[in-house]
Amino acid sequence: MRVLEASREMTKVSLDLRAKGEEIALVPTMGALHGGHVSLLERARGENNVLVMSLFVNPTQFAPGEDYEAYPRDRAGDLGKAQEAGVDLVFAPTVEEMYPPRDKTPVRVDGLSERLCGVFRPGHFQGVTAAVAKLFEIVRPHRAYFGKKDYQQWVILRRMTQDLGMEVEVIGCPTVRDPDGLATSSRNVYLSEVERAQARALPRALRGVQEAVRGGDSTPVPLVAEARRLMKEAGLQVEYVALVHPETLEDLEKVEGPAVVLAAVWCGRARLIDNMELGEGEKEFGGDVLYE
Ligand code: PAJ
Repeated sequence: MRVLEASREMTKVSLDLRAKGEEIALVPTMGALHGGHVSLLERARGENNVLVMSLFVNPTQFAPGEDYEAYPRDRAGDLGKAQEAGVDLVFAPTVEEMYPPRDKTPVRVDGLSERLCGVFRPGHFQGVTAAVAKLFEIVRPHRAYFGKKDYQQWVILRRMTQDLGMEVEVIGCPTVRDPDGLATSSRNVYLSEVERAQARALPRALRGVQEAVRGGDSTPVPLVAEARRLMKEAGLQVEYVALVHPETLEDLEKVEGPAVVLAAVWCGRARLIDNMELGEGEKEFGGDVLYE
């Protein structure tokens, strides 16, 4: 496994591999690797000849006052896990390499970026699209793998590649959960034992919505209100719960076709997000996978 820090070198290696007919996968990460990241690496490993993982805590997707400084960093551990998962190349640029001072070109997906998490984290998705657009340009992958745990991010990145005519296939992978139901996340390390127990109310409440829809309930307003109530009761501070269309992310008046329920909450100093697909989406993509 090689570790590259220079963009030019990364692009050269990729172009040489492409010229030889190799199929290149990219799994972008901010490190602090856990089962969710590993599931993406394994899927990408199985579907491509060359596996590139990027490792970059992207400052532009953190607003001032958010946890950029505190974000967990474990380069040695991450490199070990990447090697174990069969990564061929790690692209680990410095901030200056990704964002030279002359940098003046924003990449923004309007509309989708201002909804849901975008309301509470202004500028966040613009930071994500800026970083991922650059990574695509530097790494030149055939396919890029993202977790549907960050559902809105996945939807926005699909839109970005389509709008810009990027020749990258954006692939969404199921959410990996710990046995207690909580989606694995680098930020779960912020949770105390008591908070961890409270946090379970997030997936439990969303699962409740999923089951109600399965049972024929199709009116979002009371479903969302009940999910919110359950999470508040458990001591979580709810930012939003929304039942939306999986592509437009617009609120649904009725669950008739594909839909997704998403929520963001605060638990202690951890901001947690989760979502579950409903209706047709649920059947199409299958359930989430458990990580043990
Ligand atoms: P990060 O939070 O490190 O996540 C990297 C990838 O792992 C994302 O595609 C995310 O959706 C996926 N992932 C995280 N937890 C998961 C889980 N429990 N199950 C399945 N997949 C999971 O997301 C980012 O980094 C950044 O925004 C990035 C895309 C790298 C741009 O900076």
